[in-house]
Amino acid sequence: MSKLRFGIVGAGVWGETHAYLYQEHPNVEVSAICDLDVARARRLAAKFSIPGVFSDHNEMLRHAELDAVAIVTPDFAHGKIAVDCANAKKHLLVEKPLATTREDVEAIVEAAERNHVRVMVDLHNRWSPPFAVAKQSLDSGELGDPVSAYFRLNDIKWVATDMLPWAAKSSILWFLGSHTVDTLRWFFSDEVEQVYSVSSSGVLKRLGVDTVDVYQTILEFRNGGIASIENGWITPNTHPCVNDIKFNITGTKGMINLDLSNNQMIERFTEDKNDRPDVLVRHFIHGKAKGFAYESIRHFVDCLVTGEDFLVSIQDAANTSLTVLAILESAATGKVVKVKY
Ligand SMILES: NC(=O)c1ccc[n+]([C@@H]2O[C@H](COP(=O)([O-])OP(=O)(O)OC[C@H]3O[C@@H](n4cnc5c(N)ncnc54)[C@H](O)[C@@H]3O)[C@@H](O)[C@H]2O)c1
Repeated sequence: MSKLRFGIVGAGVWGETHAYLYQEHPNVEVSAICDLDVARARRLAAKFSIPGVFSDHNEMLRHAELDAVAIVTPDFAHGKIAVDCANAKKHLLVEKPLATTREDVEAIVEAAERNHVRVMVDLHNRWSPPFAVAKQSLDSGELGDPVSAYFRLNDIKWVATDMLPWAAKSSILWFLGSHTVDTLRWFFSDEVEQVYSVSSSGVLKRLGVDTVDVYQTILEFRNGGIASIENGWITPNTHPCVNDIKFNITGTKGMINLDLSNNQMIERFTEDKNDRPDVLVRHFIHGKAKGFAYESIRHFVDCLVTGEDFLVSIQDAANTSLTVLAILESAATGKVVKVKY
């Protein structure tokens, strides 16, 4: 079959992750790349032999022949690009979160339906092997029905202070909370009815990044499931893994615990550091991109080829964003907030 022609919007850290997978996938050729900072687009175009380089996504849509677009811009900059791409009849892989305002969420869903384009959001925690195995166990019935869950998903400070130039314009709730909420909706096979959240600020503000340090949130699901979640951006930089991840799901007949904060499978000691290299998320083996961060992107392409449903539907992603909006409202007002679907 002929290859699917992809465009990438956003040539930053994660745009490069997309480019690696598309370069390897036998059914994809990347025809164009776009970034407001055209030098960034040129850098990736040279590295991955991408012919079209643009600084404006509408120019890219006008001039490049594309079947699908990957939107890999900062969290708050997905909405307009996604609507424009849907109106140009391109299938979309949108980085998480789908969007950060109700207006953008509704506009993307409407544009996708009206234009009959397929949309997946890269809520890739569903491809993380420990979470996927835990979910299979729950689905087999051996844990009974899910009753309660605990999920801490935090980043080290460096992500907010150094990695993301736009951290102050986003929130740990968008950056990691969207994974947390989506994963729990998936485990409970249910929607969140209402939320209560409190937050703490100060550490990052003193470091010059004007965003909240950490949120602690209670989720109540429609069918009675309850979950307690923590999303923070102030884990010390000496933590051996970028993420601090603890998870428990307790059912009527059993439970599962995950501790993914410290992979103990490989320890490296050099003269100036000791660390535990990532063997789960994103790495290279014999020159090939491996890890669940690539698997979700591969899934998007595979489903475009086969016509199968995406593991993350557009409604999953929309409801995840609407739940995060309720959490932000609760933390700001100090009140329990019902999620408005
Ligand atoms: N799936 C995951 O777990 C995961 C991991 C990291 C990042 N992400 C997501 O990927 C997205 C990008 O993150 P990143 O770390 O690559 O950020 P980044 O800052 O490294 O790159 C973003 C790029 O987008 C460009 N950009 C901004 N607005 C644009 C616009 N309107 N048109 C074209 N280009 C524009 C910027 O110039 C920048 O080069 C975010 O939504 C983030 O949440 C997802």
